[in-house]
Amino acid sequence: MKKNKIFVACDSTNISKVEHIIKETTNPKIKFGYKFGLEFLNSKNGRSFISKLRNKIIFADLKLHDIPNTCISVIKAIKDLKVNYLTIHISSGLEALKAAKKVTGRVKLVGVTILTSLDDKSLKEIGFDKNIKKLIYHQAKLANKAKLDAIVCSAQEAKIVKKVFKKEIITPGIRFSSKANDQKRILNPKQAYKEGSDWLVIGRPITKGNIKKNIQILIDHLSQ
Ligand code: C5P
Repeated sequence: MKKNKIFVACDSTNISKVEHIIKETTNPKIKFGYKFGLEFLNSKNGRSFISKLRNKIIFADLKLHDIPNTCISVIKAIKDLKVNYLTIHISSGLEALKAAKKVTGRVKLVGVTILTSLDDKSLKEIGFDKNIKKLIYHQAKLANKAKLDAIVCSAQEAKIVKKVFKKEIITPGIRFSSKANDQKRILNPKQAYKEGSDWLVIGRPITKGNIKKNIQILIDHLSQ
């Protein structure tokens, strides 16, 4: 049976908490990877913790959003961490995406589309005049042109992305039994896989409270 793939968002600055998350997230039905964002990577001991992690799929969610030269320098600066996935905002521009791709080597470069905490109203506020779906379709074409290895979008847009981007699709904004929190474009895990997500990113619905229980709820949901 093909395993469901999940990146657990380790959004904390607390090493023991992250160790606990990693220890508790084992299940024969799920392949787990671990996503570390700016919070953990900038915490006092976070970077060195990641550098010592072995035999885990590591996702560095740095969400680079900068000029080509700076993106290249950051990628070089974290080479020692040996992460498997690294994110860059597609809105950094084609030149930055191509430049980054040239130096990532074995690390999979993941293009972030529009954050799942934004909706059409938020886009208008920022000054974009395309709606989310059109913008993401456009960005997916750009990611394809830059030969990125994966895309982050909400599962609601996975089908649109698939039309023009044939590699991995990673979707945050996943909710199964808890509240939406700050996420706007959400789907449940079953729907997300059905829409074509390869990996789900799940943070709080797994890491808040009893992790083992949360995973069991997730598995029950998936097998319904
Ligand atoms: O707790 P929750 O499941 O909302 O966590 C989602 C994780 O995915 C967070 O670490 C967040 O930074 C990340 N993320 C996101 N939306 C994106 C890209 C990344 O929520 N578009």
